Amino acid sequence: MKLWDGRFSKGTEAEAEIFNASISFDQRMYKQDITGSIAHAKMLAKQGILTDEEAQQIERGLLEILGEIEAGVFEFTIAQEDIHMNIESALTERIGQAGKKLHTARSRNDQVATDFRLWQRDEIAEILEKLDALRDTLEALAKEHQETVMPGYTHLQRAQPVTLAYHLLAYYQMFSRDKDRFQDCLKRTNWLPLGSGALAGTTYTTDRNYSAQLLNFDHICPNSMDAVSDRDFAIEFLSCCSMVMMHLSRFCEELILWSSAEFKFIEMDDGFSTGSSIMPQKKNPDMAELIRGKTGRVYGDLMALLTLMKGLPLAYNKDMQEDKPPVFDAADTVQASLSIFNKMISTMTVRKDNMENAAKTGFLNATDAADYLVSKGLPFRECHEIIGKLVLACINQGKAIEDLSLEELRQFSDKFDEDLYDKISIRSCINAKKSQGSTSFEQVAKALADIEAAK
Ligand code: ARG
Repeated sequence: MKLWDGRFSKGTEAEAEIFNASISFDQRMYKQDITGSIAHAKMLAKQGILTDEEAQQIERGLLEILGEIEAGVFEFTIAQEDIHMNIESALTERIGQAGKKLHTARSRNDQVATDFRLWQRDEIAEILEKLDALRDTLEALAKEHQETVMPGYTHLQRAQPVTLAYHLLAYYQMFSRDKDRFQDCLKRTNWLPLGSGALAGTTYTTDRNYSAQLLNFDHICPNSMDAVSDRDFAIEFLSCCSMVMMHLSRFCEELILWSSAEFKFIEMDDGFSTGSSIMPQKKNPDMAELIRGKTGRVYGDLMALLTLMKGLPLAYNKDMQEDKPPVFDAADTVQASLSIFNKMISTMTVRKDNMENAAKTGFLNATDAADYLVSKGLPFRECHEIIGKLVLACINQGKAIEDLSLEELRQFSDKFDEDLYDKISIRSCINAKKSQGSTSFEQVAKALADIEAAK
């Protein structure tokens, strides 16, 4: 029997019933559905719409069902379509009349919107924990690698020397903003739709603020039609997920490059690498590649929900049942990616020597050599030109700037002196940076102190 079949003269076609059902995926909101229903029953009792005895019977029955679901012995059926009706019909089977009263002053439309927001709220809490764990790892690695020198790149061409700590702290900032975005999304998730009814409100003297208080929502949705119609909170969540994935994906791309024989900057732990079925020598950075690949899936989830919503008239439409699979998928993907990424970078080996050696070739000190001439009184543009010519000459001779003698250097400018050599060593180049937020050892130490202070 269906909970709504009074006005029907025949049953649903078997194929239509399967097509219509969402229980295969929305059963993962069972806990939220039960929590929401218990709060609703308590509110109804407080308002005298149910007796206290009825509300208690409902609560006991729902908690019993919760126990069975968690023990894996509850049987979900397609005939009861979704998680809401599976639980409600099981409740009525158990407790009879009181179970039939639970749906007073609510509709599945406000119920599903409530469950979904409750679920997303729990999910955000878990993602925030994982983001914090990743930020802690980055901070620890940065502390450890304050003296690890490496090339900084633009256009993937060696540009200026930086420290690995500085490079890692760039990602620390990105993940901090991701955290901020999820916290902000949480604010808009935490508005309660329950009590809105199907679309127009209900005829009962309910107390929606009391339900909000019981469920820890900050506010009630002020317009019932909006409450049951919009899924912007979920789209915002998907956008936050996409942004984290984009950051993880860029980082993964670098780690994949760095673990190649061409770079040899890092080596992934065996536990986070895989081999080849044909080439015995292979050790592949599959975890990083998969995170990069899964980023595409999460972007797809965002596009799916945006597209799903774009043409829907108010209020609820059954199309909206399709909102959950992309959101569940994105949340699972982000959680798994954050967790594995964190473990992967905690266990990788950093090859400091290769990083530093790479920073020694490719004229990463050319800008500093130009700045040296500026300090001797020449205008920057002129210095840029002189060093450009000097670099070209060095390339032709297969030498670095510091390999030239003072005499050779003076053929390009008589401003060169013995003190140049010290000024253009890698560590001097790094330490000469004075601007706030730069790669100098001092500024990176300050950045780490700021992170510590902000905790
Ligand atoms: N399973 C439905 C969903 O996920 C629940 C809401 C159904 N409401 C309705 N009027 N058919 O959207």
